[in-house]
Amino acid sequence: MAWIAENRRDPQVKTSDTPYLTDALKAVLRDRYFPRYPTKRAVLLPALHLIQHTYDWIPTQALQEVAEFLEIAPAEALDTATFYEEYWLKPKGKYLIGVCRSLACELCQSAKLTDTVRRKLGIEVGQTTTDGRFTLIEMECLGSCGSAPVALTNEVLQENLTPEKLEKLIDSLPADPHDFKDPGITWPEDDKH
Ligand code: FES
Repeated sequence: MAWIAENRRDPQVKTSDTPYLTDALKAVLRDRYFPRYPTKRAVLLPALHLIQHTYDWIPTQALQEVAEFLEIAPAEALDTATFYEEYWLKPKGKYLIGVCRSLACELCQSAKLTDTVRRKLGIEVGQTTTDGRFTLIEMECLGSCGSAPVALTNEVLQENLTPEKLEKLIDSLPADPHDFKDPGITWPEDDKH
């Protein structure tokens, strides 16, 4: 049988002429974060956060641009981005619904919450609805075992959930998450990135 050689040398990444790390984002990193960290390399996590906050995920091209800007190897940016599960390397829905599946929540029927979302939105764990609005994931302990079962909708903790409460919550979410105001949280202007 003949060997089939796979080409892993030539880049297979689709790139766009428009950079993800725009001049405006570079200015944020340069002016806001570089003074706070001892080296450019140390700004990698904030830079990845900034990209994800801006685009909702981190495209491969953006990883390359960040690496170049911070003068590190692209592999180092990729290693870091793949180490933390909070970074999304593929597009996700506007709303990320993360149901806690750890022990306290599991004992309080968190599986029913996951099933509710599955059934209501027609997706499995790890999938995104075809309209790009919702992604469903399961998460480990969110540190709120006393109010189990819990879930996150984007970054908002939803406590003491029941399948009915979760369904109502999903129905009440606005089309654009930026229109969602959590009454419990106010972000100072300076900390939006
Ligand atoms: S087990 Fe769900 S918050 Fe701790």
